[in-house]
Amino acid sequence: MKVIKANDYDAMSKKAAEFIYEAIKNKPDITLGLATGSTPHRMYDYLADKLNENKIDLSKVHTVNLDEYVGLGEGDPQSYHHFMHEEFFDKVDIPLENTHLPNGKAGDLETETENYEQLIKDLGGIDLQLLGVGRNGHIGFNEPGTPFDSTTQVVGLTDLTIQDNSRFFERVEDVPTEALSMGLKTIMDTKSILFLASGEGKRDAVDALLNGEVTEEIPVTILRNHEDVTVIVDKAAAGEYI
Ligand code: F6R
Repeated sequence: MKVIKANDYDAMSKKAAEFIYEAIKNKPDITLGLATGSTPHRMYDYLADKLNENKIDLSKVHTVNLDEYVGLGEGDPQSYHHFMHEEFFDKVDIPLENTHLPNGKAGDLETETENYEQLIKDLGGIDLQLLGVGRNGHIGFNEPGTPFDSTTQVVGLTDLTIQDNSRFFERVEDVPTEALSMGLKTIMDTKSILFLASGEGKRDAVDALLNGEVTEEIPVTILRNHEDVTVIVDKAAAGEYI
């Protein structure tokens, strides 16, 4: 695991944008696994700016996102579809037909999860997966206790995650209680991983990732078994652990 410490959120975001920009430059037909949330928010700003200032052809780039809330679609401002369009897809020259998220409004969610796994396979697998982490160590929406051999599935969100994510909703009751998420095996099958964490609230999760036992109780620890992980954390998230 390669660990890079950044001074603060801004520096972490810049380094991460640089990393992804270089990855696209080196492999113009890259399949990127993307994440949403506060952690990558500014990284997408920097990445979009960089892609617009130093143009590279994005016509062969494909993206697959980690997750989406069950019941929310593109029209919902809190959906991850909406987030990705606002923060990234609509700012750069990526063909929208090359961008994918699980459909949280699918009539048959079970089939949707199977189709999503198939889509990833058809794209030749994910070359670089971007990850944030929940305070309880979740990656994607794989909450503590999720089996390590899980593939894309419908998952229930813990109270902590619902509380944490309620900042994006008007009321906590509006936060969906379920999501579609790539599984832990799906994440482990990716060729490389860029893991980001910022802020004091992520310290325990970062400590578990860097120093802890590998356990299903803290999903992020599974990354210790992945052979190509780059970690970029700011000082607040790193604490005294690195
Ligand atoms: C987002 C995702 C989640 C977030 C995590 C941290 O697509 O899969 O695992 O990375 O919940 O969220 P933030 O970055 O908002 O603290």
